[in-house]
Amino acid sequence: MQVARDICDERLELLIAAGIELDLRMIQRLADLEIADVYIHEPGTDDIIPRDDVVSDKTRRKTHKLLQRTFGDLTSLADMSEFANEDVVTILQYDDRFANAVSVSHFHEVVHSTVDDLFVRHEDIFETPVVKRYLDRKYEHALNTSVLAIMLGRAFHYPPEKLVVLGTSSMLHDVGKLIFPKLTSKHYRDLTSEERRRLRLHPAAGAAILSRGGGNTALEQATIRQHHEQQDGRGYPLGLMGDNLPPVESRAPRHREIIRYAEILAVANAFDNLINGDLVVEPMSPVKAMETLVRGAGTLYNRAVVSEALRIINVYPVGSIVEIRIGDQLFETGARGVVRRGNHQYLNRPEILVLWDRRGQRCAPRVLDLNQHPGVEIELV
Ligand SMILES: [Fe+2]
Ligand SMILES: [Fe+2]
Repeated sequence: MQVARDICDERLELLIAAGIELDLRMIQRLADLEIADVYIHEPGTDDIIPRDDVVSDKTRRKTHKLLQRTFGDLTSLADMSEFANEDVVTILQYDDRFANAVSVSHFHEVVHSTVDDLFVRHEDIFETPVVKRYLDRKYEHALNTSVLAIMLGRAFHYPPEKLVVLGTSSMLHDVGKLIFPKLTSKHYRDLTSEERRRLRLHPAAGAAILSRGGGNTALEQATIRQHHEQQDGRGYPLGLMGDNLPPVESRAPRHREIIRYAEILAVANAFDNLINGDLVVEPMSPVKAMETLVRGAGTLYNRAVVSEALRIINVYPVGSIVEIRIGDQLFETGARGVVRRGNHQYLNRPEILVLWDRRGQRCAPRVLDLNQHPGVEIELV
């Protein structure tokens, strides 16, 4: 087994370079480091290039460093899990320790680079990553949510400066959780109802932390405060409503309506939580995650944002392995292959290079264009 792409550690330092033949000792070492997914070179697939690099390595490294420093500082500042709910936000607003705990201008800068990368690369399809980039979920969640939110914002024709506000809010939307390390280290089902209530303070806590970071960040604060609001008014903290219309700038929210940025962020946040898992849900496949989003459209999430997500998120990323769940006369059920090319018109009907038969034996490569085989159904392995 030959490594097809560089394998990096937590700090994006190189562990194993592309081209190296993996042996058992290396596999054991990767397992010890909890690195579960890597790209493997498969003969005959040289023209299949995974595209999970919408953000350049340079931007990624810069963002990762900033996240690590900021999140690390915040976590070490105070564990406020034990404080009374009404005290937490007041402390965040007035205690000197939290002055400039988050440098919003630095975040604007890295998000600006992300927006530039997306424009330079003309990316309008969000590839769900085949291989995780970071081992620390906090950083991965911040970056993934931000990239997806920016891409959704772009699909609604937001100009770059608005995308920076949206991307920054998305990158920092959960900073309010960092002051409750005792709570976030537990599984949600093990939390008492009092602890759950405290955790629900995180949108307000995050907004309060941002208010200490200097500059005018009113929009970012509002977006963070409202990222758990729902269209049906059953979200928190305020129970605001949504109108399920496209979140375009020209339609300013009415009284007690959710701010547009927060409606986009809610969908990006949910999708990343569904595919990678969070305190509440176990990770699921991008296809199932998308089905879950669609089920929640109109009540939990803005319907127009979910439709756009359906249009721009590729749930069968190029380079991932799929199995034929229902075959036809030409392609047998149980055979496996690699996603060769996305179908930008119908993202759930990609082109597959079938490489293994249903017994798992390597067979002569054959191209299966799902567009031409309407009866064939696939699933990610
Ligand atoms: Fe959150
Ligand atoms: Fe989140």
